[in-house]
Amino acid sequence: MRILGIETSCDETAVALVEDGRLLGEKLATQIDVHALFGGVVPEIASREHLRVLPRLYRELLAETGTAPETIDAVAVARGPGLLGSLLVGVSFAKGLCLSTGAALVGVNHLWAHLLAPGLTEELRFPALGLLVSGGHTHTYLIKSPTEFELLGRTLDDAAGEAFDKVAKVLNFPYPGGRYIDELAGEGKADRQLFPRAYIENPSLDFSFSGLKTAVANYVNAHPDLVFSEMATPETVAALAGEKRERLAGVCASFNWSVADTLRIKVERALRRAGPVSSLIVAGGVAANSLLRETMTGLARENDVALTLPDLSLCTDNGAMIAYAGWLLAESGYGHALDLEAVPRGRVVPEDWTVRV
Ligand code: KG4
Ligand code: ZN
Repeated sequence: MRILGIETSCDETAVALVEDGRLLGEKLATQIDVHALFGGVVPEIASREHLRVLPRLYRELLAETGTAPETIDAVAVARGPGLLGSLLVGVSFAKGLCLSTGAALVGVNHLWAHLLAPGLTEELRFPALGLLVSGGHTHTYLIKSPTEFELLGRTLDDAAGEAFDKVAKVLNFPYPGGRYIDELAGEGKADRQLFPRAYIENPSLDFSFSGLKTAVANYVNAHPDLVFSEMATPETVAALAGEKRERLAGVCASFNWSVADTLRIKVERALRRAGPVSSLIVAGGVAANSLLRETMTGLARENDVALTLPDLSLCTDNGAMIAYAGWLLAESGYGHALDLEAVPRGRVVPEDWTVRV
């Protein structure tokens, strides 16, 4: 079964082709440079960029993989959660394709797709505990199968990636700043007393990162010499040297440790609460973070559970994860009619598929 996947939920436009669970090809265009000027994603610009770029990526993908449109069995599209205007571009494009080629339509939950994506490169073992850490979400799930996700915990305020991005903004790092914090943190030594690990002194599986973000902002405001005077470029970050680089690396390492250790505590708690699981899956943009990867590797070892950590290219938004999750659904007979709705951030994505018997 051949599936086209379409991803337009935020600031990456991406398409991919998956056949019988194997990736045939993919194309991705990031809008990072467009939004970097504003220090964050501008929704209206994001939608327009998707509209401009998506048809070209689709044509290129088909040409490069030698695929005729009529040979696509199903079109899988990220239907939420995300920026509504951006999602609508992908969803409308998918519906148009289905109408013209007769392919089946499959709406994919973007968050589930992040967690299922590692199935492209290794076998997924269920039941699994899933940790999704992205720019918009921090969720833990008990994943019983590719279509059965039980939400265990979620952030009450900022997502982990949002905390990275906001701290990066306070420091005037280039946008999006998560990976610069990661890089500098690797050079510094964490002071574990410097910043709080919020919302851990309770039995809850939920997260809270806004207090940590504020604590870092307060520290940085009290040490203004740490901040780049204007928004840095990757080159100015690379060129930073001497004592300032050392101190900044220390702040990044301390913040990064607070995030990673908070996630460790809550995931360990969720593992106990969920009962026996066959694997721990960590996914989303923040799963690219070196310290988090190290922390989760240690946690899985200590708890004697297999760890699934996607390759770096599968961590951030991409089309392959949508095509793969769509393939899992379509293969089991799940699909959607042409009235499929896009679901904005903050709303639960309904399990409103139809099942072919
Ligand atoms: O999953 P994703 O590509 O988009 C969403 O669906 O949100 O995640 C993007 C997030 C951003 O907040 C970005 O700063 C963060 O992932 N990120 C990182 C790293 N690479 C990306 N955060 C920490 N360390 C990294 N290496
Ligand atoms: Zn994402």
